[in-house]
Amino acid sequence: MKLTRRDLVWIIPSGVSAGFFAWLAWRAVYIQFLKKGVSEPVWKQGARVRVSSVEGLEAPWKFRYFEYPITQGSLYAVIIRVPGPVAGGISVGDAHFLALSRICTHLGCTVNFVDNPEVGAIAYNFRFDNPFLGCPCHFGAFDPMQAGKAIYGPPRYPLPRIQLEEEQGVLYATGHEIPLRPIEQG
Ligand code: FES
Repeated sequence: MKLTRRDLVWIIPSGVSAGFFAWLAWRAVYIQFLKKGVSEPVWKQGARVRVSSVEGLEAPWKFRYFEYPITQGSLYAVIIRVPGPVAGGISVGDAHFLALSRICTHLGCTVNFVDNPEVGAIAYNFRFDNPFLGCPCHFGAFDPMQAGKAIYGPPRYPLPRIQLEEEQGVLYATGHEIPLRPIEQG
């Protein structure tokens, strides 16, 4: 069959539209269903940095930002007192702590800890039952109770964890998970 110019007038736009919607569907599946789970971390030992006293994080969801020295410079990070044990965190008696990199695994913006889910619903366009880490750039979200797993938006990979140790009531950062995404791939 010979195509006429009139045929092309509808075939080309239809093809472009079909391609666009196929790409959109793939992006939706990629973003929503292919997020990486979190397993036990592999640590890389580093500097020993005091991040907080145990008492300084006196209740669940108290948090503190800190910087952790790495080969490439300084890593923005956060330590959070979580309500239960989390893989890669530590427990001191019945108090549980998790430390995470604040560098978004999507495109490297700095994520914030959102301790009020109601505020998070407005500021990050994401409603969640517990506090989370939100990225202001493209509204990615990460769940501390799932050890930093990406749960919403474009990021697929979890936030890398920071290794914690406790000594005489003081919490120290002593290393980080590898790979340190998005700085390192793996
Ligand atoms: S850089 Fe964080 S969601 Fe894109």
